[in-house]
Amino acid sequence: MEGTYLLKDGFIVLPEETSRGSIRIKGQTIEAMGDLDPLPGEKVIDCHDCYFLPGGIETHTHLQLESMGTVTADDFATGTRAALAGGTTTVIDFATQFHGESMARGLERWHEKADGNCAIDYGFHMALTEWNDKLRAEMEEVVAGGVSSFKMYMAYKDNMMVQEDQIYQALEESKRLGATIGFHCENGLLIDVLVRRERALGHLSPYYHQLTRPDELEEEAIVRLGAVNSLLHANHHIVHLSTAKGLSAIQRTRERGIRVIVETCPQYLLLDASLYGRPTSQDFEAAKYIMSPPLRSRRDQEAIWQGLASGDIQFIGTDHCSFNYKGQKEMGRDDFSKIPNGAPGIELRMALLYSYGVARGRMDINRYSVVTSTNAAKYFGLYPQKGILQVGSDADIVVLNPQAEWTVTQADLQENCDYTPYEGFPMKGKIRDVFLRGRHKLASGKIVIDEADGRYLERGLPDLDIR
Ligand code: URP
Ligand code: ZN
Repeated sequence: MEGTYLLKDGFIVLPEETSRGSIRIKGQTIEAMGDLDPLPGEKVIDCHDCYFLPGGIETHTHLQLESMGTVTADDFATGTRAALAGGTTTVIDFATQFHGESMARGLERWHEKADGNCAIDYGFHMALTEWNDKLRAEMEEVVAGGVSSFKMYMAYKDNMMVQEDQIYQALEESKRLGATIGFHCENGLLIDVLVRRERALGHLSPYYHQLTRPDELEEEAIVRLGAVNSLLHANHHIVHLSTAKGLSAIQRTRERGIRVIVETCPQYLLLDASLYGRPTSQDFEAAKYIMSPPLRSRRDQEAIWQGLASGDIQFIGTDHCSFNYKGQKEMGRDDFSKIPNGAPGIELRMALLYSYGVARGRMDINRYSVVTSTNAAKYFGLYPQKGILQVGSDADIVVLNPQAEWTVTQADLQENCDYTPYEGFPMKGKIRDVFLRGRHKLASGKIVIDEADGRYLERGLPDLDIR
C-alpha cells in the first residue's frame, strides 16, 4: 500500500495541457512523470484511458459545527472519509470564533475536533463573528500559525453578522498581514425583516425560505463590500456565489479596479429553486434544500457555469453543512426559519463537476483541474505542495475513469447524512483511485486504507495570480 508506485499510461492533466504518460510515486511525493518503464520491485497500476488529476481541494466545509441548536451530522472523521471517497485530498474547514471568544480558543476547539480524526490533509479558515481590538491583536499570530484566510458573514443578524465598520477594520488588518477574508454576501438586516414579515403572515413552510433571501440581496452585499474595499484594496473573496446578479456585480467591481476572487458550489450549478415546491405544499421534503444562500433559477445556474469556465469564478467548494432530514431538518417542521441551514456535498464535488462540467462539454479537463484543485492551492497558500501534478509535489493523485456510468444514491455514500440532494443523478466518470501523500487509500472505488492519517496544514499567504 505504500512505497514506490508506477501509475502507468494515463492522461496527465496540467492546468494548460494534457499529455499521455505515467507517474512514479516514491514515498510521499511525485518522483517522475512522463514516458516511464517499471523499476524492479515497483508496484505498477494500469491506468490506461484514465485521467491523472491533482487531489481535490475542498475550500468550504462546516464539519462538526454547532448551529441552530444542533450539530452537523458529519464530523471530521465521517466528513473526511467521504471527501476521500470522492477524490478530495485536502479540506479547509471553517474554525469559528463565537461571540466573546478569542481566535485562539476557536482554533483550539477546532483542533480538538479534527486532530487525529481526518482521513485527508486539512487546514482551517478562521470565521469571525465580530471584530474588536482583541481580535485585531490576535490576527498576526493566527496568520503566522498558518491560518491565512478569514471569513465574515454579512448575513445572520444578531448571530454572526458583521457590518461595514467591522468589515473595514478587519480588512485593514488583514491587508497589513497579506492575508485574505472571504465574505458570505447577503443583506442580513433585510433578510431579518422579510423573515419576520412572512412569519407574521403565517407563511411557515420551507417554500418561504427563498422568498426571504432574494437574489438582489446577494448583489447588494457584493456591491457594498466592493465599496468598502475600494478604500483599502485588501485581498477579499466571495464565498458560495449563487446568482447571475451577484456575478454581474463582481464584474462591475473588477471594472473599478478592485480585485475579487470568487468561489461557487455544485448546488448553485445543478439544483434550482423549483425544489422548494409550492407555497401551500404540506410536503416537508423541501427542507432538504434549505441552505443560505438558497437555490436559485436555471438562468442563474447558466451564468455561474459560464463564469466558472471563463475564469470569472476561480474555485469550487461545497459548503458541506449536513443535517439529517429526520430529527434535524424536522426541527423546523412548523417554521421554516428554524430549519438548520445547510446540505451535504463533500463526497460528490469532484464527480458532479466532471459529469456535468467536463462530460457535458461545459469546461475542459484542464479547467476542471484548476477549479477543483490548483486555484484553491494557490489562493490558500498550499501551492506547489498541493494542487499540481509536478515532480516534488505531494503525491495527492486522483485517477478518474471517464467512461464509468453510475447513479447517485445516498445508500452508497460515506457521508453521514440520511439524504443527498443529488439522489438519482445520472453520472458519467468515476473516481477510481486516490493517493494521499503516496498512500493508496482508495482503490477501484473502495477505501482500502481506512486510517485517520490526515495531517494539519499550516498555510502560506494567498497567491493572487489565478483566474
Ligand atoms: O446554509 C448554509 N450554508 N449554512 C452554513 C453556514 C454558511 O452560511 O456558510
Ligand atoms: Zn458555509
